[in-house]
Amino acid sequence: MKEKPDTFLRKVSLFADLPDEDLKKIVRLTRIRQYRKQEVIFYADDPGTALFILKSGMVKISVMDKDLREVILKLLYPGDFFGEMALLDGQHRSATVTAMERSEAVVLDREAFLSILRQKPELILTMLLTVCRRLRQTDEKIRSLVFADAYGKVAETLLRLINEKGERGDDGVSIELPFSTKDLASLVGITRQTLSKVLKEYQRAGVIKMLRRQIHILDEARLQREALS
Ligand code: CMP
Repeated sequence: MKEKPDTFLRKVSLFADLPDEDLKKIVRLTRIRQYRKQEVIFYADDPGTALFILKSGMVKISVMDKDLREVILKLLYPGDFFGEMALLDGQHRSATVTAMERSEAVVLDREAFLSILRQKPELILTMLLTVCRRLRQTDEKIRSLVFADAYGKVAETLLRLINEKGERGDDGVSIELPFSTKDLASLVGITRQTLSKVLKEYQRAGVIKMLRRQIHILDEARLQREALS
């Protein structure tokens, strides 16, 4: 059975503390949109017209350099919002957002979103906390991109994925990877060839085990050391 929009929005941390009545009002202002795997939800530099809250699936936030090399800034999962920046500062979209698998999003138009923020300023604080967390993660990513070698960059990305979607078992942590090695390379910020070399070396050293669409982390402590070095 499909989840009702207000049942879903109640679980979204942004709206968790809102009284039922306010949440119902917000639900009336939203619509649901579906996206196919690989469908672009919007491009960097598009004008910003709506806020999105991911209901199911997964999306990537990415930017391209002039040779169309992609860097994935962040993966987002159900309950995460995106598209707030262009709505708040009135500028164009700062990055491209693409569905990595079949995805569904709750969409709130700009005017409705701004009017809710005016009526419920406490939402601004909640939103700001998420934006601060993302900025910290981006700072970490910049540090890794600038200072770490390929082993450190891969280690940093794997540790982040463990945090976001790792499943702990008796002999380590498993990370599902429902995307291509090209995407994983864009997430790390290195070429596919370098990624493949590093993963092979980590596998040889017993740090990870590669399975189809899954990476099993056997030695998390080693990844932590690599990420810091
Ligand atoms: P907006 O600029 O409207 O469109 C792109 C969206 O991607 C942006 O809003 C944020 O929601 C999100 N975004 C942009 N940069 C980052 C980042 N560094 N980390 C996480 N999310 C981001």
